[in-house]
Amino acid sequence: MKAVSHLAESRAQSGGFDVMRLREDFPILKQKVHGKPLVYLDNGATSQKPQSVIDALNHYYTAENSNIHRGVHHLSERATAAYEAAREKIRRYINARSDREIIYVRGTTEGINLVTQSYGRSFLKSGDEIIVSAMEHHSNIVPWQILCEQVGAKLRVIPINHDGEIVMEEYHRLLTDRTKFVSMTHVSNALGTIVPVKEMVASAHALGVPVLLDGAQAVPHLRVDVQDLDCDFYAFSGHKMFGPTGVGVLYGRAELLEKMPPYQGGGDMISLVTFEKTHYNVLPYKFEAGTPHIAGGIGLGAAIDYLLALDWNALAAHEHRLLSYATDLLTDIDGVRIIGTAKEKAGVLSFVLDHVHAHDVGTILDQEGVAVRAGHHCAMPVMQRFGVPATTRASFAFYNTTEEIDVLAQAIHRVRKVFG
Ligand code: ALA
Repeated sequence: MKAVSHLAESRAQSGGFDVMRLREDFPILKQKVHGKPLVYLDNGATSQKPQSVIDALNHYYTAENSNIHRGVHHLSERATAAYEAAREKIRRYINARSDREIIYVRGTTEGINLVTQSYGRSFLKSGDEIIVSAMEHHSNIVPWQILCEQVGAKLRVIPINHDGEIVMEEYHRLLTDRTKFVSMTHVSNALGTIVPVKEMVASAHALGVPVLLDGAQAVPHLRVDVQDLDCDFYAFSGHKMFGPTGVGVLYGRAELLEKMPPYQGGGDMISLVTFEKTHYNVLPYKFEAGTPHIAGGIGLGAAIDYLLALDWNALAAHEHRLLSYATDLLTDIDGVRIIGTAKEKAGVLSFVLDHVHAHDVGTILDQEGVAVRAGHHCAMPVMQRFGVPATTRASFAFYNTTEEIDVLAQAIHRVRKVFG
C-alpha cells in the first residue's frame, strides 16, 4: 500500500511527469544493493541506459556488426547507414548546421584534446592567453596546460564567488587583445552551476575570440542549441546522456574545422596516401581516424530518440523540483554544508558533513543502497576554492524521485549517528 501511495504521490508532485512509468524503461533501477532498493544518485558520473539503448547495442552486434565506410557488402552498408543516421540525429538534436560539423570522439575529454592539439597547436603561440574558469573539470584544464607548455601560451582563470558563480567583471577584465581562446563549462559537474555561456560567448566574439563549451553535464539536463549559443566548439559524452560509454561528440563550426589539421592519422581520415604526400578526407571524417565505436554511435542515436520523446518542459520542472526538495531537506540536517549555491543550477547537490570525510559518507550511503560520488570530482581547483578536501555529490536524472531523496536524507542521518 505504501509503495502505491508513494507512486501516486510521485505523479502528483511531478506535475504530470510520469516518473514511475519512465523508470520502467531503465532495467538497472529495479535492482537491490546490499539488500536495499538501489537509489542511483551518481548520474553526473554516468547515467543509466534505457532498454531501447541496450536493445540498439544488442541489435547492432546481433544483426549488423560490420566495419563502416569500407565494405561493399550488405552488412557494411547497413552498419554505415545506421552510424551515419545517428550522426544526423545528433546534428538535429543540437541544431548544428551540417553533419560535417559533428565529429564522433570517445567523449568530452577527447573532444577537448582534439581542439587543443589541432586548433591550439596550429593557431596559438607564445604570449597568447587562454581563459578557463575556476570551476572547470580537469579535462578542461589539463589539455590547455599541455598546450601552454607546447606553444608558450598562458592560462588565465576566471574566479568564482562563494556561491560557485562566475565573477563576470573578472571575466571581462581578463578578456583582452591577448586572449586567443575561451574554454568554459556549460554546467559545473562539482557544483551544478549553470554558466551564462551565451553571454560569455558574445563577449569573446566581440573580440574575435573563439569559444569551446564543455557540455558534458549540460546535455542530460538542458536542450542545447549550438547555433543559439553561437559557440565555436561544443563537446559532450554519450554516457552521461543515457547513451553508451566510449562515444561522444565534438561539434565544431565548419569554417574552423576546415582550417584545422587532423588530430590523429590513420584509416578513414584520408582521401589519398602516397609516401610523398597524403590528402586528407573531407569533414567530418578528417578527424575520425581508425575504426570508431560503431555500436556506441548507433546507441547514442537511440538515446537521442528516447530523449526526444520526453516532454522537456515537464522534465525540467521535475528536475527543478528534485533539486529544491533535496536542497531544503539537506539544509535542515545539522552539520551539512552545501557547496554550490548558485541561483541557476542543474541536477547536482554537493555537500560536506562536519567532521566526516566524504569517502566515509559515501561508504555508509552505499550500505543504504544510495549511490553517490565522493571525492574531488576531477575538479580539484573547486575543492581548493571552497577549502575542502572532497565533497559528497548527489547528482540527479529525470528518473529520480523525491522518495529517493528521502532515502538519501535518512542515510545522512545514519552517518551522523555512526560518527556521533
Ligand atoms: N566527470 C564525471 C563526474 O563528474 C566522471 O563524475
